[in-house]
Amino acid sequence: MSTTAIAEALQIDQVRADFPLLSREMRGHPLVFLDSAASSQKPRVVLETIDHYYRYQHANVHRGVYTLSQEATEAYETARAKVRRFLNAAHNREIIFVRGATEGINLVSSSFGRKYLKEGDEVLITAMEHHSNIVPWQMACEQSGAVLKVVPVNERGELQMDDFEQLLSERTKIVAVVHVSNTLGTINPVEEIIARAHKLDIPVLVDGSQAAPHLQVDVQALDADFYVFSGHKVFGPTGIGVLYGKEKWLHALPPYQGGGEMIETVTFEKTTYNELPHKFEAGTPNMAGAIGLGAALDYVERLGQAAIGRHEDELLAYATGLLEAIEGLRIIGTAERKASVISFLVEGTHPYDVGTLLDKQGIAVRTGHHCTQPLMDRYGIPGTIRASFALYNDRSDIDRFVAGLERALRMLR
Ligand code: ALA
Repeated sequence: MSTTAIAEALQIDQVRADFPLLSREMRGHPLVFLDSAASSQKPRVVLETIDHYYRYQHANVHRGVYTLSQEATEAYETARAKVRRFLNAAHNREIIFVRGATEGINLVSSSFGRKYLKEGDEVLITAMEHHSNIVPWQMACEQSGAVLKVVPVNERGELQMDDFEQLLSERTKIVAVVHVSNTLGTINPVEEIIARAHKLDIPVLVDGSQAAPHLQVDVQALDADFYVFSGHKVFGPTGIGVLYGKEKWLHALPPYQGGGEMIETVTFEKTTYNELPHKFEAGTPNMAGAIGLGAALDYVERLGQAAIGRHEDELLAYATGLLEAIEGLRIIGTAERKASVISFLVEGTHPYDVGTLLDKQGIAVRTGHHCTQPLMDRYGIPGTIRASFALYNDRSDIDRFVAGLERALRMLR
């Protein structure tokens, strides 16, 4: 499909108009926002849904016999059903609302670690994990005496699947892998990873933080045991995220936090736990966040994930071509299958200086290690400049970004 046809398919001008923040000026220039991998902007429908919830529907959920509480409960549980549909999970009770992907991973590493990890066991992760899919597992290993093993990446930023195969053994108790790397953009072969792990009956957790905004995710087709993502990267609010878990695993794991709503009965001698999903949702949940997330997922589905994917692939190819033509610029992460993230360095410059000069021109990119310090060590670099694209970016953003970058480099070199 030609670029114009893709842009038409997504009606990009209308999409941009849906995001009020994108019309802001920054330092005297129209904002070019290229940091959606860190956090995405919010469409009007999400803002209005949250506003409506607090104005007309708010009460505590699952606790009141009165009508308002029942309405709030219905809105909250409808949001859960929307997440189920978005991930194609089999049951609503397999969807646990958490604060974000980080909390989802901490929940699994803590509960799984307490029940299943012991001295000499192994947890297998990869060299391109975000700190949030490294540190919780290190903590679980420290507590249990298990050992953390790491699948290396090659120079292009792809997992070395032969090493993965060799590292898998009867000692491996769980595999945790990122679906799309936030630093390299690599789309990992998670279906193959899960299939190989399952041959040895090893469960797999997938960190879908960067995948959910860009790819169609089907947890049943992947056969993932656990899948996490954050609402704020999928055009939803902050402070809400999702842990999908297969029912059999969620039944098997002990609760993560204790408190209200996660119990069935409490006496001072003994507590029994509530059914799924409530067993993992202690305390008053983030109702507004969940309902706002539901509106964001509706928005993504209305645009169509296939059209979004095509649009972003086209932007990635366009930006990559322009950046490759800049002398001394090195792209970090050149995997064959990539999502819309480009990390790079420019000879003779520091990422922070480049980022600062871009900001002066109203262009927002992220600089630094992107919460992937071990990956930076793998490449022997302190950090990168990272531009990431979302469904509301277009070619004019990339043209402004590349022109701004060239200007910054003329000042720095
Ligand atoms: N994980 C987020 C990023 O990659 C914050 O920027």
